Amino acid sequence: MPGIVVIGTQWGDEGKGKCTDQLGDRTDYTVRYSGGNNAGHTLVVNGEKYAMHLLPSGVLNPGIPVIGNGVVIDLDVLFEEIETLTARGVDVSKLIISANAHIIAPYHRTLDKVTERFLGKRKIGTTGRGVGPTYADKINRIGIRVQDLFDEELLREKVEASVAQKNQLLVKLYNHRAIEPVEVADHLLSFADRIRPMVRDVGRELNEALDDGKLVLFEGAQAHHLDVDHGTYPFVTSSNPIAAGACTGTGVGPTRIDRIIGIAKAYTTRVGEGPFPTELLDADGDRLREAGGEFGTTTGRPRRCGWFDALVVEVAATYNGLTDVFLTKLDILTGWEKIPVCVAYDIDGERVEHYPVLMSDLMKAKPIYEFLDGWTEDISECRTFEELPENTQRYVRRLEELIGCRISGIGVGPAREQTITLHDLID
Ligand code: GDP
Ligand code: IMO
Ligand code: MG
Repeated sequence: MPGIVVIGTQWGDEGKGKCTDQLGDRTDYTVRYSGGNNAGHTLVVNGEKYAMHLLPSGVLNPGIPVIGNGVVIDLDVLFEEIETLTARGVDVSKLIISANAHIIAPYHRTLDKVTERFLGKRKIGTTGRGVGPTYADKINRIGIRVQDLFDEELLREKVEASVAQKNQLLVKLYNHRAIEPVEVADHLLSFADRIRPMVRDVGRELNEALDDGKLVLFEGAQAHHLDVDHGTYPFVTSSNPIAAGACTGTGVGPTRIDRIIGIAKAYTTRVGEGPFPTELLDADGDRLREAGGEFGTTTGRPRRCGWFDALVVEVAATYNGLTDVFLTKLDILTGWEKIPVCVAYDIDGERVEHYPVLMSDLMKAKPIYEFLDGWTEDISECRTFEELPENTQRYVRRLEELIGCRISGIGVGPAREQTITLHDLID
C-alpha cells in the first residue's frame, strides 16, 4: 500500500476534499501537510455537507487524521472544528498533531488584516486568517510551536519577544492599538492540556505506517498556482502546497510517495487577487459561478470564474510529477453549445504554448481558445466513462492530451458516489 498525495492544480477549490474522501474508507492515515484554516474543503456524505478548514477530510473515515509540522494551527479554530464535528457524531478522538507545527496567534490575524488594508490596491486578497504572518514568523525564527505550549516559561518569553516586535509595527506603522502579551500567552496556554494527548512524533509514525504497508494519504490544501515558490507570486499563499510539501510538511522522504493525484476543475476558478488569463468578466462567468455554486467555503467570497486553462494544469502536472488527474465538476459544464479550452496564450502578438516564466508575461497573456462541442444531457447519474455523452468523452480526452497526464477519476456531482473511476487511484 502506498503513500499518495492529493494536490490542487489550479488556484484552489478544485475538489480536493471530495477526492480525499473518495479514497477515505481505504486509507489508514489522512494527513494535512501545509496551510491552515485558509483552506475550505467541502464534502457531501450521505446527503450531509461538511466543511473542513483545518482537519483533514479523512476525519469522516475510519483512518487516523494527522496534522503535520507544515501546517499552521489556529487553536481556537482547531477546537471549534473538533467540537462541531463531535456534536455531529464524528469521532475525532484519533487525531494526532506534530509538535513542530506552528501556531497562529491572535496577533497574526490582526497583522494579516492590517497589512492587507495597508497594501490597498496592491492587496493579495488573503483569507484574513493570519496564515501569512505565521509563516513569516516561522521563517524569521520567532514563531510559536505546538511544543512551546508545554513549557510555560518559554512560551511566555517567546510571546513577549514576538509581541514586542509586532507592537512596533502595529502602533507606529499601522496606527493600531498595542497587543498585550500576557493575554496572548494566557489564551494559548489555556489549550495546552487539551492538545497534549494529541501530540506525537508524526514523522516516525507515518514512516512506520508506510513500512507496515499502510495507506497514507497526504491531503494538499491550496494549489500549485498558490505555492509561494511556484505560484503567481506575490498573489500566493505563504506555504508550499505542491506535492513536495508533503515531505517537508510531515517528515517522510520523497521515496515514500508512490502516487501524486492532481485535482483539476473542468473549468477554472480563483479567489483573491492575481492574474487569471481565462477569467470571464461577463455573463458567461456569472453563469459558471451560479451553476457551480462558486462561493468560497472559507470566506463566502464569490469565486472568479473562467474556462479551463490547459497551460495552468500542464505546468502543475509537470512540476509535481503527477501520476493521475482527477477532473471535478464536469457536470457543471452541461448545457453549453461550445466549450472554450485555452490551449495557448497570445503574449505581445506571439503564440506561446507553455505557461510563461515571467509574471509580467502572464499578466498580459490573452487566451487562445479551442472550441469543443458541448452536451446537454444531465451527466450527474453517470457512473462509467462509457455512459457519458460522446462530446463529454471527447472533452475529457482532449484535456488529457493537453495536460499530458491521464485522467483517472471524474466528478459528476458533489456527493461521494457521484464519481467515475477510469483507473483505480490506489492500486
Ligand atoms: P477544495 O478546497 O479543493 O476541497 O474544494 P472546495 O470544497 O472548496 O470546493 C469544491 C466544491 O465543489 C465543493 O462545494 C464540493 O462539494 C463541490 N464538488 C466537488 N466535486 C464536484 C463535482 O464533481 N461536481 C459538483 N457539482 N460539485 C463538486
Ligand atoms: P483550498 O484548500 C482558494 C488564496 C486567498 C488569497 C491567497 C493568499 O480550499 O483550496 P492566505 O490567506 O493563504 O494568505 O491567502 O490564497 N487561498 C485560497 N484560494 N482555496 C484555498 O484553499 C485557498 N487558500 C488560500 O484567497 O488569494
Ligand atoms: Mg476550498
